[in-house]
Amino acid sequence: MNYDRLGNGKTQPDPSSQPESFTDPPSSGPTINPSLKTKLLLIIAFTLIIVSLLSVGLVIRLHAKSPRGDGSQSGIHPRPTEAMSRVCSQTRYQSLCLDSLLNFPGSMSASEKDMVHISVNMTLQRVGNALLTSIDISNNQMDTHIRSAYVDCLELLEDSVDYLSRSLFSIAPAAGEGKDNQAGSVQDVMTWLSAAMTNQDTCTDGLSEVENGYVKQVMDEKLKDLSEMVSNCLAIYAAVSDGGEFDGVPVQHRRRRLMSSFPEWLGRTERRLLQSPVAGIQADIVVAKDGNGTCKTIVEAIKRVPEYSSRRIIIYVKAGR
Ligand SMILES: *[C@@H]1O[C@H](CO)[C@@H](O)[C@H](O)[C@H]1NC(C)=O
Ligand SMILES: *[C@@H]1O[C@H](CO)[C@@H](O)[C@H](O)[C@H]1NC(C)=O
Repeated sequence: MNYDRLGNGKTQPDPSSQPESFTDPPSSGPTINPSLKTKLLLIIAFTLIIVSLLSVGLVIRLHAKSPRGDGSQSGIHPRPTEAMSRVCSQTRYQSLCLDSLLNFPGSMSASEKDMVHISVNMTLQRVGNALLTSIDISNNQMDTHIRSAYVDCLELLEDSVDYLSRSLFSIAPAAGEGKDNQAGSVQDVMTWLSAAMTNQDTCTDGLSEVENGYVKQVMDEKLKDLSEMVSNCLAIYAAVSDGGEFDGVPVQHRRRRLMSSFPEWLGRTERRLLQSPVAGIQADIVVAKDGNGTCKTIVEAIKRVPEYSSRRIIIYVKAGR
Protein backbone atom coordinates (compact mmCIF):
# COMPACT_ATOMS: atom_id res chain seq x y z
CA MET A 1 0.00 0.00 0.00
CA ASN A 2 1.23 3.46 -0.84
CA TYR A 3 0.43 5.20 2.38
CA ASP A 4 2.34 8.27 1.34
CA ARG A 5 0.20 8.81 -1.76
CA LEU A 6 -3.03 8.97 0.14
CA GLY A 7 -2.40 12.39 1.48
CA ASN A 8 -1.81 14.22 -1.79
CA GLY A 9 -5.49 14.30 -2.65
CA LYS A 10 -5.09 13.24 -6.29
CA THR A 11 -6.02 9.64 -5.79
CA GLN A 12 -9.63 8.87 -5.04
CA PRO A 13 -9.78 6.74 -1.96
CA ASP A 14 -11.31 3.44 -2.96
CA PRO A 15 -13.42 1.44 -0.52
CA SER A 16 -10.59 -0.95 0.27
CA SER A 17 -8.43 1.86 1.57
CA GLN A 18 -11.00 3.30 3.90
CA PRO A 19 -9.15 2.58 7.17
CA GLU A 20 -6.36 4.96 6.11
CA SER A 21 -8.77 7.67 5.16
CA PHE A 22 -10.09 7.81 8.71
CA THR A 23 -6.78 8.94 10.05
CA ASP A 24 -5.57 10.92 7.10
CA PRO A 25 -8.38 12.56 5.10
CA PRO A 26 -7.36 13.79 1.63
CA SER A 27 -6.86 17.50 1.54
CA SER A 28 -8.79 17.97 -1.69
CA GLY A 29 -12.17 17.51 -0.10
CA PRO A 30 -12.61 20.38 2.26
CA THR A 31 -16.33 20.78 1.50
CA ILE A 32 -17.18 17.24 2.57
CA ASN A 33 -16.94 16.95 6.30
CA PRO A 34 -15.25 13.82 7.60
CA SER A 35 -18.26 12.30 9.31
CA LEU A 36 -20.38 12.60 6.12
CA LYS A 37 -17.54 10.98 4.25
CA THR A 38 -17.41 8.14 6.72
CA LYS A 39 -21.12 7.63 6.29
CA LEU A 40 -20.77 7.57 2.51
CA LEU A 41 -17.98 5.06 2.71
CA LEU A 42 -19.98 2.91 5.05
CA ILE A 43 -22.92 3.01 2.66
CA ILE A 44 -20.67 2.05 -0.24
CA ALA A 45 -19.10 -0.76 1.72
CA PHE A 46 -22.50 -1.98 2.83
CA THR A 47 -23.79 -1.92 -0.75
CA LEU A 48 -20.75 -3.85 -1.92
CA ILE A 49 -21.30 -6.45 0.76
CA ILE A 50 -24.95 -6.85 -0.24
CA VAL A 51 -24.07 -7.10 -3.92
CA SER A 52 -21.45 -9.72 -3.25
CA LEU A 53 -23.81 -11.66 -1.00
CA LEU A 54 -26.42 -11.58 -3.77
CA SER A 55 -23.99 -12.84 -6.34
CA VAL A 56 -22.84 -15.61 -4.03
CA GLY A 57 -26.47 -16.58 -3.68
CA LEU A 58 -26.84 -16.58 -7.45
CA VAL A 59 -23.81 -18.76 -7.97
CA ILE A 60 -25.07 -21.21 -5.37
CA ARG A 61 -28.42 -21.38 -7.12
CA LEU A 62 -26.79 -21.98 -10.48
CA HIS A 63 -24.70 -24.70 -8.93
CA ALA A 64 -27.75 -26.30 -7.44
CA LYS A 65 -29.50 -26.27 -10.79
CA SER A 66 -26.69 -27.52 -12.96
CA PRO A 67 -26.10 -31.18 -12.11
CA ARG A 68 -28.63 -32.45 -14.67
CA GLY A 69 -28.41 -30.38 -17.80
CA ASP A 70 -29.24 -26.72 -18.20
CA GLY A 71 -25.69 -25.71 -17.52
CA SER A 72 -25.69 -23.73 -20.70
CA GLN A 73 -26.00 -20.22 -19.29
CA SER A 74 -23.94 -20.77 -16.19
CA GLY A 75 -21.02 -22.02 -18.24
CA ILE A 76 -20.96 -25.24 -16.23
CA HIS A 77 -21.54 -27.94 -18.78
CA PRO A 78 -22.32 -31.47 -17.78
CA ARG A 79 -19.80 -33.54 -19.64
CA PRO A 80 -21.05 -35.70 -22.49
CA THR A 81 -20.74 -39.40 -21.79
CA GLU A 82 -18.52 -41.55 -23.96
CA ALA A 83 -21.57 -43.13 -25.57
CA MET A 84 -22.91 -39.69 -26.42
CA SER A 85 -19.66 -38.50 -27.94
CA ARG A 86 -19.30 -41.61 -30.05
CA VAL A 87 -22.86 -41.48 -31.27
CA CYS A 88 -22.77 -37.76 -31.99
CA SER A 89 -19.50 -38.09 -33.88
CA GLN A 90 -21.57 -39.84 -36.57
CA THR A 91 -23.82 -36.87 -37.06
CA ARG A 92 -23.59 -33.80 -39.20
CA TYR A 93 -24.64 -31.35 -36.49
CA GLN A 94 -22.49 -32.56 -33.65
CA SER A 95 -22.82 -29.78 -31.13
CA LEU A 96 -26.59 -29.76 -31.55
CA CYS A 97 -26.50 -33.52 -31.03
CA LEU A 98 -24.50 -33.23 -27.82
CA ASP A 99 -26.43 -30.26 -26.44
CA SER A 100 -29.80 -31.81 -27.04
CA LEU A 101 -28.81 -35.21 -25.67
CA LEU A 102 -27.25 -33.70 -22.56
CA ASN A 103 -30.54 -32.10 -21.69
CA PHE A 104 -32.70 -35.12 -22.28
CA PRO A 105 -33.76 -37.14 -19.25
CA GLY A 106 -32.08 -40.52 -19.00
CA SER A 107 -29.37 -39.81 -21.54
CA MET A 108 -26.52 -39.66 -19.02
CA SER A 109 -26.82 -43.35 -18.23
CA ALA A 110 -27.80 -44.44 -21.74
CA SER A 111 -25.76 -46.84 -23.82
CA GLU A 112 -24.88 -46.19 -27.43
CA LYS A 113 -27.71 -48.44 -28.47
CA ASP A 114 -30.16 -46.49 -26.32
CA MET A 115 -29.12 -43.27 -28.01
CA VAL A 116 -30.94 -44.39 -31.13
CA HIS A 117 -34.37 -44.36 -29.57
CA ILE A 118 -33.50 -41.46 -27.31
CA SER A 119 -32.59 -39.28 -30.26
CA VAL A 120 -35.77 -40.20 -32.09
CA ASN A 121 -37.85 -39.70 -28.94
CA MET A 122 -36.25 -36.34 -28.30
CA THR A 123 -36.83 -35.20 -31.87
CA LEU A 124 -40.41 -36.43 -31.78
CA GLN A 125 -41.04 -34.37 -28.67
CA ARG A 126 -39.49 -31.27 -30.22
CA VAL A 127 -41.45 -31.60 -33.43
CA GLY A 128 -44.64 -32.35 -31.51
CA ASN A 129 -44.07 -29.32 -29.37
CA ALA A 130 -43.42 -27.16 -32.42
CA LEU A 131 -46.70 -28.36 -33.89
CA LEU A 132 -48.70 -27.71 -30.73
CA THR A 133 -47.28 -24.26 -30.14
CA SER A 134 -47.64 -23.33 -33.81
CA ILE A 135 -51.35 -23.96 -33.57
CA ASP A 136 -51.48 -21.16 -30.97
CA ILE A 137 -51.11 -18.50 -33.62
CA SER A 138 -53.75 -19.90 -35.95
CA ASN A 139 -56.17 -17.13 -34.95
CA ASN A 140 -53.77 -14.43 -36.00
CA GLN A 141 -54.56 -12.32 -39.01
CA MET A 142 -52.77 -13.71 -42.04
CA ASP A 143 -53.06 -12.89 -45.69
CA THR A 144 -53.84 -15.76 -48.01
CA HIS A 145 -50.24 -16.42 -48.98
CA ILE A 146 -49.04 -16.62 -45.42
CA ARG A 147 -52.09 -18.57 -44.32
CA SER A 148 -51.42 -21.14 -46.99
CA ALA A 149 -47.73 -21.50 -46.10
CA TYR A 150 -48.69 -21.69 -42.43
CA VAL A 151 -51.31 -24.38 -42.95
CA ASP A 152 -48.88 -26.34 -45.11
CA CYS A 153 -46.37 -26.21 -42.29
CA LEU A 154 -48.89 -27.48 -39.77
CA GLU A 155 -49.72 -30.40 -42.04
CA LEU A 156 -46.06 -31.13 -42.66
CA LEU A 157 -45.28 -31.04 -38.95
CA GLU A 158 -48.19 -33.33 -38.23
CA ASP A 159 -46.92 -35.62 -40.90
CA SER A 160 -43.46 -35.60 -39.32
CA VAL A 161 -44.89 -36.40 -35.90
CA ASP A 162 -46.52 -39.40 -37.49
CA TYR A 163 -43.32 -40.56 -39.20
CA LEU A 164 -41.27 -40.04 -36.07
CA SER A 165 -43.68 -41.89 -33.82
CA ARG A 166 -43.80 -44.79 -36.24
CA SER A 167 -40.01 -44.79 -36.25
CA LEU A 168 -39.84 -44.69 -32.49
CA PHE A 169 -42.34 -47.50 -32.21
CA SER A 170 -40.30 -49.55 -34.69
CA ILE A 171 -37.08 -48.98 -32.78
CA ALA A 172 -38.53 -49.37 -29.30
CA PRO A 173 -41.86 -51.18 -29.64
CA ALA A 174 -42.07 -52.06 -25.95
CA ALA A 175 -42.16 -48.41 -24.97
CA GLY A 176 -44.77 -47.36 -27.49
CA GLU A 177 -48.28 -48.25 -26.48
CA GLY A 178 -49.42 -47.37 -30.01
CA LYS A 179 -52.91 -48.44 -30.91
CA ASP A 180 -52.71 -49.26 -34.58
CA ASN A 181 -49.03 -48.49 -34.86
CA GLN A 182 -47.17 -50.73 -37.23
CA ALA A 183 -43.54 -51.47 -36.66
CA GLY A 184 -41.49 -50.98 -39.78
CA SER A 185 -38.31 -52.50 -41.13
CA VAL A 186 -34.93 -50.73 -41.06
CA GLN A 187 -35.67 -49.53 -44.56
CA ASP A 188 -39.04 -48.15 -43.47
CA VAL A 189 -37.53 -46.25 -40.59
CA MET A 190 -34.92 -44.74 -42.89
CA THR A 191 -37.65 -43.72 -45.30
CA TRP A 192 -39.79 -42.22 -42.56
CA LEU A 193 -36.94 -40.28 -41.05
CA SER A 194 -35.90 -38.95 -44.45
CA ALA A 195 -39.46 -37.92 -45.13
CA ALA A 196 -39.67 -36.15 -41.78
CA MET A 197 -36.48 -34.29 -42.59
CA THR A 198 -37.75 -33.22 -45.99
CA ASN A 199 -40.99 -32.02 -44.42
CA GLN A 200 -39.25 -29.44 -42.28
CA ASP A 201 -37.32 -28.18 -45.29
CA THR A 202 -40.48 -27.98 -47.37
CA CYS A 203 -42.12 -25.95 -44.65
CA THR A 204 -39.14 -23.60 -44.38
CA ASP A 205 -39.05 -23.19 -48.16
CA GLY A 206 -42.73 -22.32 -48.22
CA LEU A 207 -42.23 -19.73 -45.51
CA SER A 208 -39.23 -18.23 -47.26
CA GLU A 209 -41.51 -17.20 -50.09
CA VAL A 210 -43.84 -15.13 -47.95
CA GLU A 211 -43.21 -11.62 -46.77
CA ASN A 212 -41.38 -11.30 -43.50
CA GLY A 213 -43.76 -10.75 -40.64
CA TYR A 214 -44.92 -11.99 -37.29
CA VAL A 215 -46.16 -15.40 -38.42
CA LYS A 216 -43.04 -16.08 -40.42
CA GLN A 217 -40.82 -15.09 -37.51
CA VAL A 218 -42.73 -17.23 -35.06
CA MET A 219 -42.67 -20.20 -37.40
CA ASP A 220 -38.98 -19.82 -38.20
CA GLU A 221 -38.28 -19.83 -34.49
CA LYS A 222 -40.36 -22.98 -33.95
CA LEU A 223 -38.71 -24.75 -36.84
CA LYS A 224 -35.25 -23.90 -35.65
CA ASP A 225 -32.99 -26.95 -35.52
CA LEU A 226 -35.80 -29.40 -36.29
CA SER A 227 -34.50 -30.45 -39.67
CA GLU A 228 -31.00 -30.77 -38.21
CA MET A 229 -32.29 -32.88 -35.36
CA VAL A 230 -34.03 -35.28 -37.71
CA SER A 231 -30.88 -35.40 -39.81
CA ASN A 232 -28.95 -36.40 -36.70
CA CYS A 233 -31.48 -39.12 -35.87
CA LEU A 234 -31.12 -40.53 -39.33
CA ALA A 235 -27.32 -40.48 -39.12
CA ILE A 236 -27.33 -42.18 -35.71
CA TYR A 237 -29.83 -44.77 -36.82
CA ALA A 238 -27.97 -45.45 -40.04
CA ALA A 239 -24.60 -45.71 -38.29
CA VAL A 240 -25.86 -48.09 -35.65
CA SER A 241 -27.80 -50.26 -38.05
CA ASP A 242 -24.93 -50.27 -40.55
CA GLY A 243 -22.19 -51.19 -38.16
CA GLY A 244 -23.93 -54.42 -37.16
CA GLU A 245 -24.24 -53.01 -33.67
CA PHE A 246 -27.93 -53.34 -33.85
CA ASP A 247 -28.16 -56.32 -31.54
CA GLY A 248 -30.79 -55.77 -28.99
CA VAL A 249 -32.61 -53.11 -30.92
CA PRO A 250 -35.65 -54.99 -32.06
CA VAL A 251 -36.59 -54.12 -35.59
CA GLN A 252 -39.18 -56.18 -37.34
CA HIS A 253 -38.25 -57.10 -40.84
CA ARG A 254 -41.80 -56.92 -41.89
CA ARG A 255 -42.93 -55.68 -45.20
CA ARG A 256 -44.12 -52.17 -45.39
CA ARG A 257 -47.80 -51.87 -44.68
CA LEU A 258 -48.30 -48.17 -44.85
CA MET A 259 -50.92 -48.28 -47.56
CA SER A 260 -53.14 -50.85 -45.92
CA SER A 261 -54.22 -48.46 -43.23
CA PHE A 262 -54.13 -44.77 -43.88
CA PRO A 263 -52.53 -42.48 -41.35
CA GLU A 264 -54.91 -40.33 -39.33
CA TRP A 265 -53.83 -37.08 -40.92
CA LEU A 266 -54.92 -38.11 -44.39
CA GLY A 267 -58.16 -36.39 -45.31
CA ARG A 268 -61.26 -38.18 -46.57
CA THR A 269 -60.90 -36.95 -50.15
CA GLU A 270 -57.32 -38.16 -50.29
CA ARG A 271 -58.27 -41.55 -48.88
CA ARG A 272 -60.98 -41.96 -51.47
CA LEU A 273 -58.58 -40.96 -54.20
CA LEU A 274 -55.96 -43.43 -53.07
CA GLN A 275 -58.51 -46.20 -52.75
CA SER A 276 -60.05 -45.78 -56.16
CA PRO A 277 -58.82 -47.99 -59.00
CA VAL A 278 -56.16 -46.43 -61.20
CA ALA A 279 -58.34 -46.67 -64.28
CA GLY A 280 -60.91 -44.40 -62.66
CA ILE A 281 -58.46 -41.62 -61.81
CA GLN A 282 -58.06 -38.72 -64.20
CA ALA A 283 -54.38 -38.06 -63.76
CA ASP A 284 -53.06 -34.67 -64.86
CA ILE A 285 -49.55 -35.90 -65.32
CA VAL A 286 -48.41 -39.45 -65.90
CA VAL A 287 -44.88 -40.43 -65.08
CA ALA A 288 -43.65 -43.43 -67.05
CA LYS A 289 -40.06 -44.39 -67.53
CA ASP A 290 -40.77 -46.04 -70.84
CA GLY A 291 -41.83 -42.75 -72.36
CA ASN A 292 -45.46 -43.73 -72.55
CA GLY A 293 -46.57 -41.03 -70.15
CA THR A 294 -46.59 -37.25 -69.92
CA CYS A 295 -43.03 -37.27 -68.71
CA LYS A 296 -40.32 -39.65 -67.67
CA THR A 297 -39.33 -38.61 -64.17
CA ILE A 298 -41.10 -37.53 -61.02
CA VAL A 299 -39.01 -34.37 -60.82
CA GLU A 300 -40.14 -33.41 -64.30
CA ALA A 301 -43.73 -34.01 -63.26
CA ILE A 302 -43.38 -31.82 -60.19
CA LYS A 303 -41.95 -29.04 -62.34
CA ARG A 304 -44.97 -29.23 -64.58
CA VAL A 305 -47.43 -28.70 -61.74
CA PRO A 306 -48.80 -25.17 -62.05
CA GLU A 307 -48.02 -22.89 -59.15
CA TYR A 308 -50.86 -21.84 -56.87
CA SER A 309 -53.28 -24.17 -58.54
CA SER A 310 -56.78 -23.89 -57.15
CA ARG A 311 -57.41 -27.59 -57.55
CA ARG A 312 -55.48 -30.73 -56.72
CA ILE A 313 -53.12 -31.86 -59.44
CA ILE A 314 -52.88 -35.62 -59.67
CA ILE A 315 -49.61 -37.17 -60.68
CA TYR A 316 -49.78 -40.82 -61.51
CA VAL A 317 -46.49 -42.62 -61.25
CA LYS A 318 -46.63 -45.83 -63.26
CA ALA A 319 -45.02 -48.87 -61.74
CA GLY A 320 -41.55 -49.21 -63.13
CA ARG A 321 -40.12 -52.37 -64.66
C1 LIG B 1 -39.65 -40.90 -24.55
O1 LIG B 1 -39.25 -40.04 -23.51
C2 LIG B 1 -40.14 -39.90 -22.43
C3 LIG B 1 -39.52 -38.97 -21.42
O2 LIG B 1 -39.27 -37.73 -21.95
C4 LIG B 1 -40.43 -41.25 -21.81
O3 LIG B 1 -41.40 -41.09 -20.81
C5 LIG B 1 -40.93 -42.20 -22.88
O4 LIG B 1 -41.10 -43.48 -22.32
C6 LIG B 1 -39.92 -42.28 -23.99
N1 LIG B 1 -40.44 -43.16 -25.03
C7 LIG B 1 -39.70 -44.13 -25.58
C8 LIG B 1 -40.37 -44.95 -26.60
O5 LIG B 1 -38.54 -44.32 -25.28
C1 LIG C 1 -48.26 -47.21 -74.26
O1 LIG C 1 -49.64 -47.08 -73.93
C2 LIG C 1 -50.52 -47.65 -74.86
C3 LIG C 1 -51.94 -47.38 -74.43
O2 LIG C 1 -52.05 -46.61 -73.31
C4 LIG C 1 -50.27 -49.14 -74.97
O3 LIG C 1 -51.11 -49.70 -75.95
C5 LIG C 1 -48.82 -49.38 -75.29
O4 LIG C 1 -48.54 -50.77 -75.27
C6 LIG C 1 -47.90 -48.67 -74.33
N1 LIG C 1 -46.53 -48.83 -74.70
C7 LIG C 1 -45.58 -49.23 -73.88
C8 LIG C 1 -44.19 -49.26 -74.42
O5 LIG C 1 -45.81 -49.57 -72.73
